[in-house]
Amino acid sequence: RPDGQLGWIHFRSQVRVFRFRCGCRDYFLPPATWGRHLPPESLNAFPTPTPIPTPSLLFPPPSSAKVSSLAAIGLIGHLSSAICHLPLTLSLRCLITAGPTREFFDPVRFISNPSTGKMGFALATAAKEAGWSVDLVAGPVSLPEPPGVMVYPVVTAAEMQRQADALFGPCDVLIMTAAVSDWRPKATAPQKMKKDGQGLTVELEPVPDIVTALAEERRTDQFLVGFAAETENVEANALDKLERKGLDLIAANSVAGREGAFGSDENKLILLGRNGFREVLGPASKAVVARQLIDVIARLVAARAS
Ligand code: C5P
Repeated sequence: RPDGQLGWIHFRSQVRVFRFRCGCRDYFLPPATWGRHLPPESLNAFPTPTPIPTPSLLFPPPSSAKVSSLAAIGLIGHLSSAICHLPLTLSLRCLITAGPTREFFDPVRFISNPSTGKMGFALATAAKEAGWSVDLVAGPVSLPEPPGVMVYPVVTAAEMQRQADALFGPCDVLIMTAAVSDWRPKATAPQKMKKDGQGLTVELEPVPDIVTALAEERRTDQFLVGFAAETENVEANALDKLERKGLDLIAANSVAGREGAFGSDENKLILLGRNGFREVLGPASKAVVARQLIDVIARLVAARAS
């Protein structure tokens, strides 16, 4: 494309066929060309007359997704140096969590936080637009479902954990934007509690950390991204969470004061990763920052696989 990006990549099991779109044309590269330097003009020697499949057909079935996407990533590493040094867009399967959770101490009262889910939904939209397959586990939010994204609504942290567990296995990338409640009432009254003019003490217990548990069972090829909403010492606290939670990348943002990220349409993220990786995104709209973050993740995943 004029912006130097290949549009998308199509691969089949065992990668016997490699096809991609560049500009408005569809190209087929026979295996004999793989790993060779191909000047841009030579691409014209390999046009394919077959119809272009729709993006929804680009993903292999879930059972073979892992094998196929990893094979393709290896090949992409090869081809990105072969084809005019262009950055490539990967088709990955990603799991995103978004929004707050609610922890009830009676049927109508709960502990929660002001997260609106906007960042997670913007990331789901951006990942889908990048050609990824997206599962979105969303706490209670009032946002429209991003087109083409599988949305799994949940309410409590326990429900979010069960749903994330069920979807984690086949995913390539996990992005935990959810503002999961850190504590929950130890007991939930079965009926609405009556007020009696007295104060109320609710005993809280810690909520198990969802991403830490997933990180303990991860495969090494899975890429885990967390978010750190901080009111002070933003980078130091985020780096601590990167290590403690076994993440590959953490996006730190400030939620202090009126400029904070909760509910805002704008965001600024400080990305911190392994080996001293540091990149700042924004301040910009959450849609723009989300697209930039998806690009960074694609780059880091491709670099790790090649
Ligand atoms: O410790 P803190 O809540 O600041 O960590 C933030 C990161 O951890 C986010 O990615 C959030 O989704 C995740 N988290 C979690 N389970 C919790 C609390 C937070 O996965 N119980």
